[in-house]
Amino acid sequence: GKVRAPTHIISTISDDRGEEPCYAGVPMSSIVEQGYGVGDVISLLWFKRSLPRYCTHFIEICIMLCADHGPCVSGAHNTIVTARAGKDLVSSLVAGLLTIGPRFGGAIDDAARYFKDAYDRSLTPYEFVESMKKKGIRVPGIGHRIKRGDNRDKRVELLQLFARTHFPSVKYMEYAVQVENYTLSKANNLVLNVDGAIGSLFLDLLAGSGMFTKQEIDEIVEIGYLNGLFVLARSIGLIGHTFDQKRLKQPLYRHPWEDVLYTK
Ligand code: ACO
Ligand code: LMR
Repeated sequence: GKVRAPTHIISTISDDRGEEPCYAGVPMSSIVEQGYGVGDVISLLWFKRSLPRYCTHFIEICIMLCADHGPCVSGAHNTIVTARAGKDLVSSLVAGLLTIGPRFGGAIDDAARYFKDAYDRSLTPYEFVESMKKKGIRVPGIGHRIKRGDNRDKRVELLQLFARTHFPSVKYMEYAVQVENYTLSKANNLVLNVDGAIGSLFLDLLAGSGMFTKQEIDEIVEIGYLNGLFVLARSIGLIGHTFDQKRLKQPLYRHPWEDVLYTK
């Protein structure tokens, strides 16, 4: 009989062996002919299934809203400095991407983890926030350098409006809003930020779409798929900043002495 040699790699998301490549079993011609968008491609390659249009539209809105936030944020700053040091596109891009983490753009997975755990255990916002404080952990998804209770993040409002209109349930997002109400009573900068909005709303998407089992949702949250949305989105802006600096023929960046406190 046939002897099957063991393979060194297992792959379940795409196949390039046939006449045309397939993403999660869907051939490229269907993707083009049926007018699929980048949200559909993310659904196929990340979640291995076609999601309903409101879900793929939501994913696309996340990508568009997080694509850039000006030249002053950590990621863009690193990219700009790297491009001005004469480095190539990939180096400038990854220099910016490497700043994405627990404080900047990479708090989406932890926001989803903590909001889900607190909601599922029926903790009041007070119990949740104060228990985090006791553990010395900042609430992921809460707080912003420039946004305030009286100067909300428009991106968060747009995501909330879309979800309230199209999602069957926004229970995790409403919980995050209750948490925000409590944190805002402590300090004006402790708003629900875009990471927290995406983290909580993606929980609603996963739970409300009927497309995922409870076990699959737990796995997605545990593995941490959601920071990928920010990484993917912000790459668009970081590439733009690289081209901008090259186009402007900007010289090597050197930080001004006046802006450094030299002290012993
Ligand atoms: N939870 C609880 N308390 C907080 C939080 C939070 N998320 N954020 C700030 N505070 C409180 C703390 O008491 C903090 O004092 P500490 O330094 O003793 O902990 C105080 O506010 C002042 O904090 P600052 O450091 O001045 O706040 P800053 O403006 O530097 O931080 C930041 C902004 C990094 C976003 C912060 O709020 C934070 O760590 N949030 C959680 C991580 C997060 O969600 N990041 C994503 C931001 S959105 C984005 O990057 C696209
Ligand atoms: C961002 O999207 O980069 C921000 O929310 C962070 C910031 O400080 O503006």
